[in-house]
Amino acid sequence: MDITKFAIPEIIFGRGSLNHVGQCALRLGAKKVFLVSDSGIEEAGWLQKLMDILKKEGIEWVYYPGVSPNPRDYQVEQGAELYLKNHADVIIAIGGGSSMDTAKGIAIIASNGGRIKDYEGANRVSRPLPPMVLITTTAGSGSDISQFCIITDVARAVKMSIITRTLVPNISIVDPLILRTKTETLIIHSAIDALAHAVEAYTSTISSPFTEMQSLKAIDLIIRNLPRAVETKSIDSLEKLSIASVAASMAFSNASLGAEHALAHSLGGYFDLRHGVVHPILLTAVMRFNLDSAESKFGNIGRVILDRDKGSAKETALAGIAQLEEFFASFNVPIKLSQVVDAKDKDRMESLCKTAVHDACNLTNPRPASWQNFLNICEEVW
Ligand SMILES: [Fe+2]
Repeated sequence: MDITKFAIPEIIFGRGSLNHVGQCALRLGAKKVFLVSDSGIEEAGWLQKLMDILKKEGIEWVYYPGVSPNPRDYQVEQGAELYLKNHADVIIAIGGGSSMDTAKGIAIIASNGGRIKDYEGANRVSRPLPPMVLITTTAGSGSDISQFCIITDVARAVKMSIITRTLVPNISIVDPLILRTKTETLIIHSAIDALAHAVEAYTSTISSPFTEMQSLKAIDLIIRNLPRAVETKSIDSLEKLSIASVAASMAFSNASLGAEHALAHSLGGYFDLRHGVVHPILLTAVMRFNLDSAESKFGNIGRVILDRDKGSAKETALAGIAQLEEFFASFNVPIKLSQVVDAKDKDRMESLCKTAVHDACNLTNPRPASWQNFLNICEEVW
């Protein structure tokens, strides 16, 4: 086996773990925290709860509310200015992938200077970042665990993947109680994003035994618990989805992703689609495209989905993919590209597929994917 490394943050997991955030900040030397969140979290009352906890510990804060879905380069740069002007120290984000990625982008610019687009790609951040505590409010993005940060370059309408070990936060807080205030659609989209992380990390060209076991466990937990979580919002099912998301994130942060995420970033960046919307549409088509390049691994994924073998590895893989398609269709979310992209924009696909080829996630896809391959996949799922 080749030499491998596995980086994850300190993870504080469990019902009520949000209450530990003050102690976490103090341990990192916080005197004036830089808080990042969004209006949805504010409205649900979680931001106020966080502020109350900080107040109890005697910690000051400055709040940056400039977060939108698909966070923009200028939002990150404005945030860094505010961080420096206020002499803040520890960064705390509470929210989904957008809030946490905004916080990570702010951390990069505040400590390394320049523009966020200077850091696009892998390992381009040289100086250490401010300490970060990330509190996820979804079971999907994995930004609280991962060394990834996705920011939109507005001028190019491209989502940039910024990947570097220093983006792994110091502490991740995962409190499943927060998921109870989320909509059904958000729970579905987040879980299917996590499923895509697990599948792509498992079949990545740089997966390792440490990431592969996390991937398979995540797939198993999502398949067995998502329907009940959506139907009942029972805390037991939501907690299982949180465990799955953490496992999938540990896998993809260390094994990276593949062609499905490369295409998801390209389409999401141009059409300003929420990240989770794209995976029920693309994932199974990309799995079929990759199948012959990682047959036994897709067989293992099929076995987890079906809970049994169905003949050869390839037969099991194909039956697993077919069942996954039925699984996605059983939820009330779009499963065709034409449901989220206007027919008049179809002629944009060729240039978006050319962008996807250069996304850092495409580097570790088990089968080399050209823009023509991406275009065929878009046709197939249109
Ligand atoms: Fe994702």
